[in-house]
Amino acid sequence: MNEKEIAARRTFAIISHPDAGKTTLTEKLLLFGGAIQVAGAVKSNKIKKHATSDFMEIERQRGISVATSVMSFAYDDILINLLDTPGHKDFAEDTYRTLTAVDSVILVVDSVNGVEDQTRKLVEVCRMRDTPIIVFVNKLDRDGKMPFDLLDEIEKELKLSLHPLSWPINMGKEFKGVYNLYDSSLNLFTANQKSTEDNTIPIADIDGPLLAERVGERDANQLREDVELLQGVYGELDVDAYLSGAVCPVFFGSAVNNFGVKELLDTFIRIAPTPQGRDTDKRHVEPTEPKFTGFIFKIHANLDPRHRDRIAFLRVCSGRFARNTYYKHTRLSKDVRFSNPYSFMAREKDVIEEAYPGDVVGLFDTGNFKIGDTLTEGEVMQFTGIPVFSPEIFKELVNKDPMKTKQLEKGVQQLTDEGVAQLFTQHGGNRKIIGCVGELQFEVIQYRLLQEYGASCAFQPLSFYKACWITGEKKAVEDFVRFKQNNIMEDKDGNLVYLAQSEWFLNTERQNNPDIEFHFTSEFKTAMTQ
Ligand code: G4P
Repeated sequence: MNEKEIAARRTFAIISHPDAGKTTLTEKLLLFGGAIQVAGAVKSNKIKKHATSDFMEIERQRGISVATSVMSFAYDDILINLLDTPGHKDFAEDTYRTLTAVDSVILVVDSVNGVEDQTRKLVEVCRMRDTPIIVFVNKLDRDGKMPFDLLDEIEKELKLSLHPLSWPINMGKEFKGVYNLYDSSLNLFTANQKSTEDNTIPIADIDGPLLAERVGERDANQLREDVELLQGVYGELDVDAYLSGAVCPVFFGSAVNNFGVKELLDTFIRIAPTPQGRDTDKRHVEPTEPKFTGFIFKIHANLDPRHRDRIAFLRVCSGRFARNTYYKHTRLSKDVRFSNPYSFMAREKDVIEEAYPGDVVGLFDTGNFKIGDTLTEGEVMQFTGIPVFSPEIFKELVNKDPMKTKQLEKGVQQLTDEGVAQLFTQHGGNRKIIGCVGELQFEVIQYRLLQEYGASCAFQPLSFYKACWITGEKKAVEDFVRFKQNNIMEDKDGNLVYLAQSEWFLNTERQNNPDIEFHFTSEFKTAMTQ
């Protein structure tokens, strides 16, 4: 019975550099899924690029992002769970964590700008887990880079092997449409295409007269040449290679015009992976296993300060999750049950009775959960693959109100449990350093500590370059810790972390301490505790 539910689900995320068209594409997919009726219904959940210090605006937008954190809709009898990722780079950690809860991604690349900064980082994270990627090259209605050049750029810059499944006929003002290489059909471009329209024209013979009739002799000839070249180079798509993350199918289109989106979605539900298994510190868990397991990949605070509860996002990994049933919270070794778990179907928060692998369930939490926490039917294990990355910016936490020390400590603990930032405490001391990916988080933390905990703090900038988790032979680690006392901190789980002032320092320490391993992510932890 589980198998049927698993086969009918696809859980994925759309990733892109801001402005490439992620929100627009999301909206079009929801239109196809009938989850929304009119364009414009999905408010952009991205924190606007210009918002740097307007807290209320940040919070308001974060509020919107709760509602659209997971969008579930049905298409062709397939239940699609689309997990949203914040576009703003300062919330990159949130995105990385969300990617641990999906089985595949659609990467949107802007045909004008090509590969951008954030695209690189996101693809690196996908690579860590060999997440299958489908590429959607967007904005073909604008004059962008030439398609072959774009493929080249994506392959080189992102180190991805691509496999185009559609091919554009011109671009910008001359854009005529795309040729579907998979089923040899032509889709002619019309701006603002409506979702129900199907403009595909089967092309039985690419050398026949029909093609030229539709796109003109010159473009028909160019397309024939291109298709011959593509077929020679790429041949048939190897779906297994896609599923193992080795090859990425590519589609061309224009999200804002709803062009090329249906082809993308149809192929997606055909080839995208069904909910996959996950590793734990003890063993691999298959989705088909009868017993329920799941993990928390995201925690969202309630924006209303009168209600301190939070929403924990649970990805179901195996078995069947049921309402009002006791499950084991393995980190706390405590049984917990949920009377109002909810799903995100059609953007309404509905209380659900059950959920299956691939589903995301919203759980009300009063402070029990931390990112990565695992729920099971009793087996003691912890899902892995939810690494913490080195922050980019470090600041010392300064308590400005000694009367509120307790509140500050509690607030910092809870906010860092949510994954807003990372907390490092001086090894053998009490200094607290907060590490974030972007400046915005410091503002969010300061604001929330005051609003929600009544604690006021300041941040003292520190010039550290990276946080490295250190492991190695016991004596070597002890010596290193003694020598580098001022740079040694502990993360929230008590793991030793070395804060390097610069790349040069880090390299020097690496050379001088061959018995010590310096890790840029916390993921080694699993190996250590085994
Ligand atoms: P993001 O979530 O990845 O940040 O991007 P988003 O969808 O918000 O799109 C960024 C901008 O690109 C938007 O314009 C959007 O309308 C535009 N866009 C998306 N797809 C296409 C496309 O296929 N062709 C063209 N020409 N533009 C596209 P904006 O002016 O920033 O916002 P808006 O006022 O249009 O909402």
